[in-house]
Amino acid sequence: MAQLWGGRFTKETDQLVYNFNASISFDQKFFKQDIEGSIVHTIMLAKQGILTKEEKDEILKGLTGIRQDVEDGKLAITEEYEDIHSFVEANLIDRIGDVGKKLHTGRSRNDQVALDMRLYTRLEVLNTDSLLKELLQTLLTIMEEHTQTYMPGFTHLQKAQPVTLAHHIGAYFEMFKRDRSRLKDIFYRMNYCPLGAGALAGTTYPIDRAYTASLLGFEGPTLNSMDSVSDRDYVIEFLSALSTIMMHLSRFCEEIIIWNSNEYRFVEIDDAYSTGSSIMPQKKNPDIAELVRGKTGRVYGALVSILTTMKGIPLAYNKDMQEDKELTFDAIDTVKGCLALFEGMVRTMKFNEDVMEKSAALGFTNATDAADYLVGKGMPFRDAHGIIGRLVLFCIEKNCSIDELSIEELKGISPVFEEDVYRAISLKTCVEKRLTIGAPGPEAMREVIRMHKEYLKKDWQDEDDMFGGMLGELEIKEEMKK
Ligand code: ARG
Repeated sequence: MAQLWGGRFTKETDQLVYNFNASISFDQKFFKQDIEGSIVHTIMLAKQGILTKEEKDEILKGLTGIRQDVEDGKLAITEEYEDIHSFVEANLIDRIGDVGKKLHTGRSRNDQVALDMRLYTRLEVLNTDSLLKELLQTLLTIMEEHTQTYMPGFTHLQKAQPVTLAHHIGAYFEMFKRDRSRLKDIFYRMNYCPLGAGALAGTTYPIDRAYTASLLGFEGPTLNSMDSVSDRDYVIEFLSALSTIMMHLSRFCEEIIIWNSNEYRFVEIDDAYSTGSSIMPQKKNPDIAELVRGKTGRVYGALVSILTTMKGIPLAYNKDMQEDKELTFDAIDTVKGCLALFEGMVRTMKFNEDVMEKSAALGFTNATDAADYLVGKGMPFRDAHGIIGRLVLFCIEKNCSIDELSIEELKGISPVFEEDVYRAISLKTCVEKRLTIGAPGPEAMREVIRMHKEYLKKDWQDEDDMFGGMLGELEIKEEMKK
């Protein structure tokens, strides 16, 4: 048991208590962030005259050495330490002796862990956003190729009106685009630095919080030290955004599973993204889509779990908050994995255009347009609706589509029908007439695609002011030398 405390205790910690309390098995995930925070804290302490230049140089050498050794596999992070903070500090003291004990001046593990978690989450917000962007690129490529691939649009999973594949995929483009904008909002809201909040009430040392905040790429320091150590809103917001991403992926997967079924055959998932059955030789199953759909529950679970953990915690830090990590890490890794796999599955998927088109032509998807045709001839819509309803019934009995009826049969139902009806209710006309922005007509779709291309050209992650006054890694190196 290697721990950072014990002075006021007269007994050893019970082993089970130690195990229950320890977090190193999972908080080692932000080892790099912990070192980075310590480096910046050290530079600041020296700048403020709290450490001498020599002490700072020693500590920085120790910290970078530990980082290097862990990266090279020469130093293992083991369970003999309570948490990642203890691991770093204990190793520092082993390496450089007593001066290592000065690192924690003006700092508490409470603001330290708040910083580590924020740095880690912030990075993953950006990584998730990049994966979403890749998915959007793939979707846009499919959309460009399929502005004239007709397919049925559904409501209640019943064929409703014809749309195009570009239009259907475009609906998901909008969803994932909004997901990105949610991540952007979260990034800007969370990008404030809790370091320097101490245990809960700041510190009496003359530290420079604005300086550490800027070195770490934050917009500025947080403004209330109690809030700083007990805020996990950004974790909850991120999990909420991740849950929404999974909800979108899951709906898309559900459709792909349906489309890939023998009954639909709208798509065929690539062999590389399918699996077989141990008993039924003919099977090719959409396991990846099903797994993504299934893992959605797990990400929702993380959100609900942390919301519940946080709801009864008095200010400021309480150990309950250690529970924010495992599920968040799991949710992040799950979503990133799902996004990457889903992108590959969709990119390699084959669309059976002829099957889609045939399906769109059947199932009376042009019934609304047929009613509109009668309206165009001067009939009130409600009457037209009734006539086409009867027409559909007639077709069902005859087992044919509306446009397969002869003009005589049509006139038998309503004398208003003329030869021009066939053109008016053809699949092509039904889709191409829908020209307003947001509608499936190829003209309208091409305009939207053009806008999406513009959108993908600019990346919010490239915005100059993104990292506040961040000096960046190179600058940190410069500061280290001072
Ligand atoms: N492992 C702890 C956590 O994740 C670090 C903070 C410990 N602070 C404390 N006062 N015990 O929350």
